[in-house]
Amino acid sequence: MLKSKVCLVTGCAGFIGSHLTERLLAEGCSVVGIDVLRDYYDPAIKKQNLSNFINNKDFEFHQADLNKIDLNGIIGKVTCVFHEAAQAGVRASWGEEFNIYVNDNILATHKLLEALKEHKEVKLIFASSSSVYGDSAQDQLFESSVLNPVSPYGVTKLSAEKLALVYWQNLQVPVVSLRYFTVFGPRQRPDMGLYKFIKAALLNEEIVIYGDGNQKRDFTYITDIIEANILAMKNHIPGECFNIGSGSNQTINDVLDKIEKLTGNKIKRVYSTKARGDVNSTRANIGNAHKKIGYDPKMSFEKGLMNQIDYMRKSLKIG
Ligand SMILES: NC(=O)c1ccc[n+]([C@@H]2O[C@H](COP(=O)([O-])OP(=O)(O)OC[C@H]3O[C@@H](n4cnc5c(N)ncnc54)[C@H](O)[C@@H]3O)[C@@H](O)[C@H]2O)c1
Repeated sequence: MLKSKVCLVTGCAGFIGSHLTERLLAEGCSVVGIDVLRDYYDPAIKKQNLSNFINNKDFEFHQADLNKIDLNGIIGKVTCVFHEAAQAGVRASWGEEFNIYVNDNILATHKLLEALKEHKEVKLIFASSSSVYGDSAQDQLFESSVLNPVSPYGVTKLSAEKLALVYWQNLQVPVVSLRYFTVFGPRQRPDMGLYKFIKAALLNEEIVIYGDGNQKRDFTYITDIIEANILAMKNHIPGECFNIGSGSNQTINDVLDKIEKLTGNKIKRVYSTKARGDVNSTRANIGNAHKKIGYDPKMSFEKGLMNQIDYMRKSLKIG
């Protein structure tokens, strides 16, 4: 259906980038992937992600830092860029590590935008984040809600999103930003809460919960995130940003209860103080994405959770 398209996926070895690359290849696209394989988490996991398509004849891989690679030759042959590369994670973004966030989230995006301004026909889809909103008192977050990030990570994602918008408004680089809300499913990053909770349940380990567990999150299943990217490419409306969530949320305590039920194991919960930069609640209003690009998330939280548990049982080699 999408044959003849050549796409660039930055961060193609990561959690979301690897799923996106696989989907694009399955749709008949050719994919150029760039990933530096940062050691924010074990690069062996990223190599494992890559192994799903590294030998596909329509895939070309560059292990490189976006800030260093010559992008001109690559951009010249693609029709769409999915910019997933970033240093992720809220908690690690404080202190000395911040320079990595500036390098990978802001400067790398700037480098890409500079290359794209010479190729205005190339569509850009930027992976933004719900963390651009910060700690809102609103029950639902709308794209028009106040943007007030409360973590250094959120500040860098908002900077990159705004930078891309400035390149659209002034230099006609056609960008659409997708604000992802907590993504889960097979290959989820090991630093993410859900991964840690499931691992603790499967291995009978203690788990630290930051805060009282009543904080709420909107969890979005990976295939819904990927579908949103495909829709944003097909119905590309430059200058727009869309919330990409499930549209509902639940407390961390409820999530822990569900993991216990699905695994049949009790989780040893240790409650600790709230982490800096963590927000109390996220819930996406997805009406705008539904209306303008036809986004309609399909996966139930329970089924998605079961898929992630099954995947982790295998990857952690548990019975
Ligand atoms: N996972 C989520 O819940 C979530 C939520 C909101 C937004 N996002 C955004 O989605 C994107 C993908 O997130 P993920 O969870 O897959 O993270 P990930 O860490 O698994 O993937 C990101 C990949 O980018 C690569 N990378 C980082 N800096 C690079 C650079 N300078 N040059 C080349 N490659 C580089 C890393 O090596 C990594 O493999 C990120 O932009 C993230 O901010 C993710």
